[in-house]
Amino acid sequence: MLFAASLVENRPLGPSSFVLRLGGARALSSARPGQFVMLRGQWGRDPLLPRAFSILRVSPQDGECEILVKAMGRGTRLLAELVPGATLSVLGPLGRPFPEPQAGRTDLLVAGGVGLAPLLWYAEVAHERGLTTELFYGARTATELCLLDEIERTGSSLHVATEDGSFQGRGGVTGRVTAALRAYLEPAAPGPNPHVLTCGPNPMMKAVVQLASAHHLPCLVSVEGEMACGIGACLGCAIPLVAEAGGTRPFGYACVDGPVFDAARIVLP
Ligand SMILES: Cc1cc2nc3c(=O)[nH]c(=O)nc-3n(C[C@H](O)[C@H](O)[C@H](O)COP(=O)(O)OP(=O)(O)OC[C@H]3O[C@@H](n4cnc5c(N)ncnc54)[C@H](O)[C@@H]3O)c2cc1C
Ligand code: FES
Repeated sequence: MLFAASLVENRPLGPSSFVLRLGGARALSSARPGQFVMLRGQWGRDPLLPRAFSILRVSPQDGECEILVKAMGRGTRLLAELVPGATLSVLGPLGRPFPEPQAGRTDLLVAGGVGLAPLLWYAEVAHERGLTTELFYGARTATELCLLDEIERTGSSLHVATEDGSFQGRGGVTGRVTAALRAYLEPAAPGPNPHVLTCGPNPMMKAVVQLASAHHLPCLVSVEGEMACGIGACLGCAIPLVAEAGGTRPFGYACVDGPVFDAARIVLP
């Protein structure tokens, strides 16, 4: 559904990340973790295309939703400058979500950068159902980490990895997030029936998929490539499908077939 939302709050989190809280977003009440929106401010023709963002969480009671954004290019920098009262056009909820959290499974959530958004929401939903999750969160340096207190409120076990070792509190390790995941998995994962859910930059997700595969663990990835329409019309978000998976199509489309995919079904770019 395409609708106009109004910005309630633009909360800065660090050097370039911020959370947009949107009001008038009741149309997103049924959204689930992993789904996304196409977002655009009222900035004329440049940039023309809306930008894709995972939903950080929705609050059906007051018709609000939150989006975690990292300023990267022109569109996200314009979003960073928005002040409360600004109108945004929102298309969503879009895409296929992660499966529901369920008892008897240990969900290993592996996040890099703003890939934290759908996984933090997933951890919150799991927490509401009395389930706990393991959350692995990687960044280059401590100042890029955000929403740590919100992660803690989910009761999730937090495993932070910074490449420069600048975050040593709360069990932080030096290295990539896969180092923290490997330390958990080896010699044997402590929780029953481990499943990996990951979202972040493609090189990180590739390494996570390899590690999961080496341990024979099911793995779901949520891809964050470029999207122009978000609804399967432009065919710009094609992602190669693995031939052996039994499908007849050579490509899937991240916006309608994903963004959440079984890692065994796709070839990450
Ligand atoms: C499913 C999904 C979820 C995401 N979730 C988040 C999130 O939670 N937080 C976050 O910060 N970022 C998220 N991203 C990434 C976010 O969409 C990009 O960071 C954002 O689009 C960058 O926009 P920009 O204008 O700042 O950067 P620019 O580099 O200026 O623009 C990049 C964008 O331009 C558009 N574009 C430019 N050229 C083309 C072209 N030839 N064809 C098609 N499209 C084109 C695309 O929309 C592309 O994404 C997500 C992306 C996807 C696909
Ligand atoms: S973004 Fe247009 S088809 Fe997927």
